[in-house]
Amino acid sequence: MSDLDVTTLTDAVLARMSAQVTPRTRQLIGALVRHLHDFAREVELTEAEWFTAIDFLTRTGQNCTENRQEFILLSDILGLSSLVIALNHPVAAGSLASSVLGPFYLPDVPEVPLGGELASGVPGTPTRYTGQITDTAGQPLAGAVLDIWSSDGEGWYDVQKPGPLQTSARGRVRTGADGRYAFWSIKPADYPVPTDGPAGELLRAMDRDAMRPGHLHFIASAPGCASVTTQIFASDSPYLRSDAVFGVSESLVAVFEHHLPGVAPDGRRLEQAFCTVNFDIRLRPD
Ligand code: BEZ
Ligand code: FE
Repeated sequence: MSDLDVTTLTDAVLARMSAQVTPRTRQLIGALVRHLHDFAREVELTEAEWFTAIDFLTRTGQNCTENRQEFILLSDILGLSSLVIALNHPVAAGSLASSVLGPFYLPDVPEVPLGGELASGVPGTPTRYTGQITDTAGQPLAGAVLDIWSSDGEGWYDVQKPGPLQTSARGRVRTGADGRYAFWSIKPADYPVPTDGPAGELLRAMDRDAMRPGHLHFIASAPGCASVTTQIFASDSPYLRSDAVFGVSESLVAVFEHHLPGVAPDGRRLEQAFCTVNFDIRLRPD
């Protein structure tokens, strides 16, 4: 038996895995151990720094509740969520790019009629969203579904508001026979990711901005096509290049056209200024 040291410890840990371990588990845990050990060697990790990291991860876990997932937020601000998305959802033939889900999705929201309103009474600039959903060959997809959610025009999601939940700025819309969709909501505002926990501490340690550019989340799905979880970003946001969670792709940025009060393209009369956005979507085969 020889004493384990800085150069031999890694192989000793790897060798302890039993032959029964599946190849994928061996690969995952093996790479994790190698990278962790290499990290400690590279930075010459001190015991105080090691303990700071343990304390940080402990508090990250303690900050998780039924309504808050601090580990996912940590993964988001470190760019790991976007990296995993990029690895698993390649963009093919101009198909819709993916982006992070974020913590504010609610399943099973009601469907609104085509052209309907998702954000009645919600603060913000009324905005009419339109577009066509096609496959990558350009064929319109009838009956495709957009499952939509966003903050209000002040940067707050319905689930963040105190009191019993009243869902708003959410809903599902189905395309017509020509693959076109339309709905009214508001223009979402820029807002910060939560900074009152360990992920916020890490952002401050890196002297980084917590802001996300205003965006509308949606999951696009259609029979025979791969569903895509993504977001549309407002082109006039000053945070497009510094999104705290690295979720912006060029192809997801849309122009919100501003209009004076008056009659919208669908005949709706508005007493206040409003926006229109057109965003076409291509879904790749499943
Ligand atoms: C969001 O877009 O809602 C979001 C995404 C990641 C972290 C926090 C918020
Ligand atoms: Fe969001």
